[in-house]
Amino acid sequence: MNLAIVGSGYVGLVTGTCFAEVGHRVVCVDNDLKKVHQLQDGQIPIYEPGLEELVKKNVAAGRLSFTASIEHAVAESLVIFIAVPTPPQPDGSVDLSFVEGVAREIAVHIKDYRIVVDKSTVPVKTGEKVAQTIKRYNPGADIDVVSNPEFLREGSAVEDLMKPDRIVIGVSSDRATGPMKEIYSPFNAPIMVTDLNSAELIKHASNSFLALKISYINAVAAICEASGANIERVADGMGADKRIGRAFLNTGIGYGGSCFPKDLSAFIRISDELGCDFRLLKEVEAINRDQKERFLKKVRESLWVLRHKKIGVLGLAFKGNTDDVRSSVAIDIVRQLIVEGADIRAYDPKAMDKARPLLPEVKMVAQAEEVADSADAILLLTEWNEFKSLPWQAMKKRMLSPLLFDGRNLLNPEEMRAFGFTYTSIGR
Ligand code: UGA
Repeated sequence: MNLAIVGSGYVGLVTGTCFAEVGHRVVCVDNDLKKVHQLQDGQIPIYEPGLEELVKKNVAAGRLSFTASIEHAVAESLVIFIAVPTPPQPDGSVDLSFVEGVAREIAVHIKDYRIVVDKSTVPVKTGEKVAQTIKRYNPGADIDVVSNPEFLREGSAVEDLMKPDRIVIGVSSDRATGPMKEIYSPFNAPIMVTDLNSAELIKHASNSFLALKISYINAVAAICEASGANIERVADGMGADKRIGRAFLNTGIGYGGSCFPKDLSAFIRISDELGCDFRLLKEVEAINRDQKERFLKKVRESLWVLRHKKIGVLGLAFKGNTDDVRSSVAIDIVRQLIVEGADIRAYDPKAMDKARPLLPEVKMVAQAEEVADSADAILLLTEWNEFKSLPWQAMKKRMLSPLLFDGRNLLNPEEMRAFGFTYTSIGR
């Protein structure tokens, strides 16, 4: 089928590429001409495992192309996906101006029947507004608007998209169901057809529930610290119950990224607007803020005065396997340490280029080991697997004092203590 994806960011690019991989003809649209030219030349602006090979393969096969022209994309494609950013606003609501702008642009080019699919994460009732907008700017447009939320995680986006747990399709008319099912039939996943509003809610409710799991385990980790229990054993014991599950029960410095913080505030906000005070989610946010503070407190308690202390930081991305630093708790922590006068050296396997402009005071080093040089402490802030196998013993020798704070419970406490570190982690 001929498909258009408007917006070539994380979601749009991965979705378009995977659609091409299963045999559809996909045109990805972006208004950033530089990005379009880069993509046409096979340069991928983001780090996402497996993506570059797939883009190159599908461009070469003639199934994937890039353009800046919405007109061309609308003319060529029965189904047009909107995958543009929905950034947060200071009051917690979502800025829907990109979605609205694209809906207007699509509207004026529609001549025959088209299905307009919202893939961006949006508050409930946005699909209705998109349909109204298209009708306003093109009263004769023969369209159906569909909500088709994505559930991919950065760092495993290609795999999540190729092997989804479920596909959610929210429709306002049966006419759109057939083509939408056809698009997804090669993925061999359960397809759930709902109304438009339910599909939009499934996305916000899912992300908020996952964030809730994280805040729950973080709150339990604090109780483990106070009581001498071990959070890993508690999470394993809880997670063995199929009704609970072990996933997303990893304690740490709190959740970050471009999705959870934004989606929680947006869900709280839209719930308020609909007359429902979602107090539970407000507490999830509060616990997440506390988690970062509790970690900083441990650092302050050990180092006492932070001014002129040399602190080595491992990890700046909001989680492992990505170069994304948006709403990264690691970045927040480094910023706070700088405010308090610490001198920071940092290393991240992929995120240093994106972190540099956000942290101009930080010296980024080429090798992870270098963060240890004359350091008063090392903070591990992102769950990169490769940090497990660093030459820790040698690194300890390069430090002024052997303080190691593991914000992700990534390392083995006994092993680190055997190497001579004063090792602190979370809830154990
Ligand atoms: C999240 C969801 O997992 C995806 O299903 C969803 O499609 C996506 O948002 C989105 O809305 O686009 P993502 O933000 O890429 O995906 O990252 P996650 O793997 O969910 O991690 C989010 C944050 O939670 C990270 O900071 C991570 O370190 C933290 N986390 C995750 C924990 O602290 N503990 C855990 O057990 C799991």
